[in-house]
Amino acid sequence: MSEADAAWAALSKAAEAARDRRIDSLFAREPDRLGVLTLAAAGLELDLSKQPWSREDLDTMLALARAARVEAARDRLYAGEVVNASEGRPALHMALRAPDGADWRAAGVPVSGEVEATRNAMRAFAGAVRSGAVAGATGKPFRAIVHIGIGGSDLGPRLVWEALKPLDPQIELRFAANVDPAELAQALTGLDPAETMVVTVSKTFTTLETLTNAEAARDWLRASLGEASDSHLVAVSASPEKAQAFGVPAGQVFGFWDWVGGRYSIWSAVGLSCAIALGYDAFEAMLAGAHAMDDHFRTAPLETNAPVLLALAHVFNRNGLGRPIRAVVPYAQRLRLFAPFLQQLEMESNGKRVTATGQPVPHPTAASVFGDAGTNGQHAFFQLLHQGTDVVPVDILAVREGAEGDPSAQTKLLANAIAQAEALMVGRSEAEVRAELTAAGRPPAVIDALAPQRTFPGNRPSSFLLLDRLDPARFGALVALYEHKTFVEGVLWGINSFDQWGVELGKTLATRVLGELEGGPSGAHDPSTAALIARLKP
Ligand code: F6P
Repeated sequence: MSEADAAWAALSKAAEAARDRRIDSLFAREPDRLGVLTLAAAGLELDLSKQPWSREDLDTMLALARAARVEAARDRLYAGEVVNASEGRPALHMALRAPDGADWRAAGVPVSGEVEATRNAMRAFAGAVRSGAVAGATGKPFRAIVHIGIGGSDLGPRLVWEALKPLDPQIELRFAANVDPAELAQALTGLDPAETMVVTVSKTFTTLETLTNAEAARDWLRASLGEASDSHLVAVSASPEKAQAFGVPAGQVFGFWDWVGGRYSIWSAVGLSCAIALGYDAFEAMLAGAHAMDDHFRTAPLETNAPVLLALAHVFNRNGLGRPIRAVVPYAQRLRLFAPFLQQLEMESNGKRVTATGQPVPHPTAASVFGDAGTNGQHAFFQLLHQGTDVVPVDILAVREGAEGDPSAQTKLLANAIAQAEALMVGRSEAEVRAELTAAGRPPAVIDALAPQRTFPGNRPSSFLLLDRLDPARFGALVALYEHKTFVEGVLWGINSFDQWGVELGKTLATRVLGELEGGPSGAHDPSTAALIARLKP
């Protein structure tokens, strides 16, 4: 048996024991549990003690990480090797957030000079827009940006803005991703074209949704300002020539590189709209926070490495205990978009069934992830988390100091975060419920019916991630933490986390169906598809 096979077998055995054991019983057995399973990294604190693993299980998981050669894989990632083999590319998002003077290489080619030059151009442009030195076609300063992009060209910037935007921004930032025209219509409503900049972000500059929205926004500008309004167009792309052909002035096209994956790209010029609307200093602080997490991931021993342990906790649940769904609940309204962001990061990166060499993966891979801000989620899906038939591990995020508003409301928010984690783990026994109902004088038949319904099985795992404040640096560290966690999981499963072939078929078929809806020749389809095309033909 190979070292890796033995490590996976050890995980199954450890999980077998974990299934029959209560998480809360481990605290008495393991006096150092809280200390060992609480980590600090780049300004974040992570408590993994409410996970179902024992201290010995943690060792088993660390052995699995060693057998999968996680450290060597990480070093290849940082060395700029071609870790995305199916597309022949490195994945070097860490280079984007390294301080000036670094020397990162993508497949041997130095890249830090270009990264710095782009950052300098972003800083200069952001400053000029904010000061009014770069203004609209009529001379009015820009008061709004409409950011157009989808997937990795949307979810990160949208999350950044929601997390860090001031209450009364000098420049309002709106987003349009969906090809559903309703979203762009909403984004443009109430804006004055003379004061509005349109930033189109697309790595490929071929994405149907983005080009459709970019054309509509360009037409909206031109309808009121004429062709001079093309000076309001800005683009970010790894194919800058396509952006220029679209009509974006050459000096307003910002590049990035094929070694930046879409879902890892907020650190590049993809974050330009945010850098303008927040001010470049905030963007730079976000990069610095992510860089601190990069350093932690690169240098911390596996035992205290936050991305590694977060990944191992997930794999213990996913592969050991067979849990296919996980939830992420930030107790911070400003992080309410974290779950949609993670859906792309984790599910597009690791939702794969074959290895990087095309062999079937012998283990289940990425879990489905969902979530919403706490406390809102408590009034929606927490019923299932506490009493549903499936155990859904939860990542609970909390921010100690609220950014704004009533401090007593913030304390209530934190109380809920702590209480939910406790309730998930501890639960409430049937005996306790029965005693309470008996004391309340309820008849035995009612107690028999009610007690099971009001019992909480508990023993439901959570990780608790604490930020002192939601400032740009801690926010950057948070996102980088999850990026590296996702990478580690990919290494454990032996998959390429940086390609996304699974999104291609739907795009190809949509192009074909579009041709048919627009009156082109009918193709061969199954009866259900053919009926839908006939029904929806305009
Ligand atoms: O959904 C597939 C995808 O390729 C994502 O990986 C990417 O983030 C998104 O489309 C947008 O692509 P682009 O930035 O090239 O428009």
